[in-house]
Amino acid sequence: MPQSETTQPQSILLAGASGGVGGALCRELAARFPEAILLTISRGDIAPISASHQHLISTLSDPESVPAITEWLRGQPLPNWIIDCCGSLHWAGHSPEKNLLQCTDEALQQSLTCNVLTHLHLAQAVAPLLQRRSPLTWASLSAKVGSIEDNQLGGWYSYRMSKAALNMLVRNLSIEWGRKVEDCRVVAVHPGTTDTPLSQPFQDNIPTDKLYTPEQSARRIVSVLEALPQSDSGKLLFWDGTTIPW
Ligand SMILES: NC(=O)c1ccc[n+]([C@@H]2O[C@H](COP(=O)([O-])OP(=O)(O)OC[C@H]3O[C@@H](n4cnc5c(N)ncnc54)[C@H](OP(=O)(O)O)[C@@H]3O)[C@@H](O)[C@H]2O)c1
Repeated sequence: MPQSETTQPQSILLAGASGGVGGALCRELAARFPEAILLTISRGDIAPISASHQHLISTLSDPESVPAITEWLRGQPLPNWIIDCCGSLHWAGHSPEKNLLQCTDEALQQSLTCNVLTHLHLAQAVAPLLQRRSPLTWASLSAKVGSIEDNQLGGWYSYRMSKAALNMLVRNLSIEWGRKVEDCRVVAVHPGTTDTPLSQPFQDNIPTDKLYTPEQSARRIVSVLEALPQSDSGKLLFWDGTTIPW
């Protein structure tokens, strides 16, 4: 089957729908693709976004979410766009580390849980449903600070390590699913520093023109996915679609 240069979603699955970027993405997707079915997953309930919107309450960090999500998806049209927005940088009792000795086992384990398992489990839930001839675009929201080559500043040990692990998951997924699905695009996307609860404590030193609204970031991410060339599968992309080295 010839692969198209652009991708248009008929059915969209978005996880982490209650977050800053996730919520804005839901609104942007519903506005831009009013005909598409919107399926969302979140740890809590969210208000309906469109007539076709279906929501599942599920905790993706829990492996028990996997079979329940697969069963839920069996009753829905197979999504051809999947966006996982889950991630965490800080929580009660944890701020990103400034040096090695601040990195605790607990913080690293929790970072891996929030930033990697939430993507691994969603992929595992979708995997049994994939069809060779159904095109698929998968995007994991990752972070530039997870790039090993780009790291010139150090610090933020557990977040950086977990996003680097997520980046490897995405790369592996692009290879495995690229063999299974004829038209498959799997990428990690850095949204840019966006004004959400995740970045809120670290916004002081960010120039105002480098701190984006969730709506701006959502528009950019959707545009990147819409124009995503097949040759970009397996890459970490900046919000303008340019490549960030792994
Ligand atoms: N904001 C930025 O400046 C920035 C920069 C670079 C990268 N990113 C990345 O972009 C993504 C979205 O970030 P955001 O700024 O929108 O953050 P946010 O507002 O804090 O939302 C993050 C979402 O992640 C989900 N999540 C967090 N911990 C989880 C856990 N243990 N189990 C399951 N789900 C969990 C939650 O989804 P539910 O509650 O809906 O389940 C939450 O809504 C993240 O992956 C983040 O690392 C953000």
